[in-house]
Amino acid sequence: MKRKLRMGMVGGGIDAFIGSVHRIAARMDGLVELVCGAFSVNPEISKESGEALFVDPSRVYSTYQEMIEKESQLPEDVRMDFVTIVTPNFVHFDPARLALENGFNVVIEKPMTFTLEEAKQLKDLVEKTGLTLALTHTYSGYPMVKQAKAMVKENKLGKIRKVIVEYPQGWLSRLSEREGNAQAAWRTDPKRSGKSGAMGDIGTHAAHLAEYITGLKIVDICADLNTLVEGRLLDDDGNVLIRFDNGANGVLIASQIAAGEENAIRIRIYGEEGGLEWIQEEPNSLYVNLLDQPKQIYRTGNAYLSNAAKHNTRIPAGHPEGLLEAFGNIYRNFVLTVSAKLNGETPTPEMLDFPTVEDGVRGMAFIDNVVASNASNEKWTKFVV
Ligand SMILES: NC(=O)c1ccc[n+]([C@@H]2O[C@H](COP(=O)([O-])OP(=O)(O)OC[C@H]3O[C@@H](n4cnc5c(N)ncnc54)[C@H](O)[C@@H]3O)[C@@H](O)[C@H]2O)c1
Repeated sequence: MKRKLRMGMVGGGIDAFIGSVHRIAARMDGLVELVCGAFSVNPEISKESGEALFVDPSRVYSTYQEMIEKESQLPEDVRMDFVTIVTPNFVHFDPARLALENGFNVVIEKPMTFTLEEAKQLKDLVEKTGLTLALTHTYSGYPMVKQAKAMVKENKLGKIRKVIVEYPQGWLSRLSEREGNAQAAWRTDPKRSGKSGAMGDIGTHAAHLAEYITGLKIVDICADLNTLVEGRLLDDDGNVLIRFDNGANGVLIASQIAAGEENAIRIRIYGEEGGLEWIQEEPNSLYVNLLDQPKQIYRTGNAYLSNAAKHNTRIPAGHPEGLLEAFGNIYRNFVLTVSAKLNGETPTPEMLDFPTVEDGVRGMAFIDNVVASNASNEKWTKFVV
């Protein structure tokens, strides 16, 4: 690594939620500087956001098209290295496509695109250009999720038989989209969110977490989607039965009307020899229950953990790490990968440990398949990518 990487942003202005989390995460390890942005759909807000972030005014743009065009014309040692896209789902594909076509690496929010077809186009572009794309499925960045993955891979649980993954939230228990909540408004609008509401917004996180930890792929599903708040246009709740490619079965629950819940994503995985459990709201603990043995609690920051867990931990045991650090891990691994490539080196497997464009395609396929299964009269439907 010879220098910091230069970051540009699409979205994430003072009118946004997740953009500021990305900035904290990107800069956590001192490997990134924010150099430009088209921070809002509203050029005035983009300008104000640039001022608040002390970005050079000549590099605060009114649109992402202008940003990519003008940045491409800057000298190589000045222009941004990568673009972070933190807009509503319907404004993911086009800025990502333009960025890749103009030689810029990409960090993009989930779900990766608006349609599965767009996701496949991005995959083709990433392959064609050799550029790097990271998808921010945040929960896979936690050290104890890495530990869980390592233990499954080392066969500590034996052959995996069952996965229960749930993501209950309560923040859409009322018709908040009609009460001035900007984040609720686009998430419940099929023209801006996509085919699915809760399953697209948070079911995709749950599906990614299950596939990431187990290393298995979903092959069949049976989905039941519900819209429980009257007047809402998309699903706000749903249950999916799953079969994985090794024959294991699973249950995935995503709900945004689980009144009183915060961000209670939780996963339980059972193999022939034992099980494990991880709960996002207590992220520094991993519960490991092996057959005929006392229950164990593995804790972040200890020497007995896997290399992957240690590589993704910053502070000693007992000092809690959380969502910001998990986000930071995705950024650090992405940045180390891009820097290695810029230096003509081969990224290590630890560097390459972040969600990619393939995960983005699977996430979009998950949405398509769940919606199709819910609409079908069949009990089970094939998971098609
Ligand atoms: N990884 C996670 O855990 C996580 C958490 C929250 C949100 N998200 C994802 O992040 C994305 C953004 O969500 P949010 O809640 O921050 O939304 P938001 O509504 O709070 O912010 C969206 C931002 O995009 C800007 N924008 C819209 N159109 C634009 C355009 N054409 N050009 C430039 N800027 C534009 C808006 O002005 C705003 O600044 C979504 O895809 C969402 O699914 C992911």
